[in-house]
Amino acid sequence: MTERTLPFSRMIVALTGFMGCGKSSVGRELSTLLGIPVVDLDRYIEEKAGKSIPDIFAQSGEKAFRDLETAALSELLVPGGHPSETSCCAGPLPSDDGPLPLMLPRVAQFQRGDRPEQSSFIVSLGGGAILRPENAAMIREHCTCIFLRATPETLRLHLGGEQGQRPLLKDGGFEALLQERTPVYSAAADFIIDTDTLSPMQIAGIIANLIS
Ligand code: S3P
Repeated sequence: MTERTLPFSRMIVALTGFMGCGKSSVGRELSTLLGIPVVDLDRYIEEKAGKSIPDIFAQSGEKAFRDLETAALSELLVPGGHPSETSCCAGPLPSDDGPLPLMLPRVAQFQRGDRPEQSSFIVSLGGGAILRPENAAMIREHCTCIFLRATPETLRLHLGGEQGQRPLLKDGGFEALLQERTPVYSAAADFIIDTDTLSPMQIAGIIANLIS
């Protein structure tokens, strides 16, 4: 495989779309193709929090998770954004059942020291990360945003048995969430790719062509 070269000294490619659209696997393929790092926002948050996303939802509620998302995006995208040690996980999170002390492990994949203020990288967003207007504004300002669009059938197929891992899908609501969010993904995107018939590698190839 030939490595591609980006036209800019610094480009952040943000992958957005509904749960199950393939953001993480496309992120990995694109990382290999472009030879730049990929950060999976959900994993970044989990490492910082020292617990899984279902546990964050269960113990602290959705708002606390969304606050972590906003802080993580700020750290990663905004030059001079909050350093990882002192932002989203410093101190207890607001919790539905009282304060929840979170541990502060250093984030293994992307530490503060090598936060790439001058270099390019890919960020695979969580499916809801773009919903807060302040997050969408950060993403629009700092990233080239790609919406990986897929039909409900494809999304369900990809999610398969994993639906239980997504707190927001536990009690149904898939169709309503998808309908509500699709216009938000579209509005934030610089490019939209219909992914139903494509492999992650093919999608990565299309993205590489679009941005280089
Ligand atoms: C969410 C999507 C999940 C994760 C969390 C909330 C959402 O990420 O961030 O469960 O609101 O759509 P994936 O899109 O990677 O599943």
